[in-house]
Amino acid sequence: MTADLQIPASPLLSDDTDLFYLLREFETAYRYAPTGGSSPIRAHMRIVRERIARIMKANPAMRSPEPSALPVATHLGRAFDNGEREPTEVFVRTAAKLAPRLRWEYGYENVRPTLARKYGYTDVMGPAGFIGCEDLVLGFVLFAPGCVYPSHRHDGITESYIVLSGAVSENALGVFRPPSMIFNAAGTTHTIRTSSHEPALLAYAWTGTPEAIAGHTMKFTRTRRK
Ligand SMILES: [Fe+2]
Repeated sequence: MTADLQIPASPLLSDDTDLFYLLREFETAYRYAPTGGSSPIRAHMRIVRERIARIMKANPAMRSPEPSALPVATHLGRAFDNGEREPTEVFVRTAAKLAPRLRWEYGYENVRPTLARKYGYTDVMGPAGFIGCEDLVLGFVLFAPGCVYPSHRHDGITESYIVLSGAVSENALGVFRPPSMIFNAAGTTHTIRTSSHEPALLAYAWTGTPEAIAGHTMKFTRTRRK
């Protein structure tokens, strides 16, 4: 006879194996991604790593956000399949294990119907998400093929993306595919587009003061013409 497996009501990070290893993948990505000689990117990567290390050391109790799907989530399997053929393979496989638990959201109050079908994000760590943290937000954003993520900015928050699957352009400055990092200094305006054939999955990190992160509201730069 075997003893019943006792699962605590609020497991610690170290008990939640899938999340623990996902955090390791974020930490690894922000340790080994090339900086391209950019001091701001190097500094941002160090801050992300230090805050991840602090959380892993604290080993907090996990939260259990209610999973929710959005239309874009139907592209998630394809994004994982494509990502498994990229240098980001291990990160992608680790993220895929969390798929049934993810809570996909828009973040914007008024999302245009075209964007509502083609975009969603899910926080892993931050004020929302599985792991509570006030000064670092980690998560994933998923874009369907042919998505235009309109011009926006994040005041007081430094943002980076690691492209895990697919290809995106930002501000028409270049095309980024795995394992590229895209860096948006606080307050800079950016627009993201995806190719018309495949979805794109990006990991993101936001750093800022607790006040900046708690007070951030998602707004597009220009209001929609009626
Ligand atoms: Fe952004």
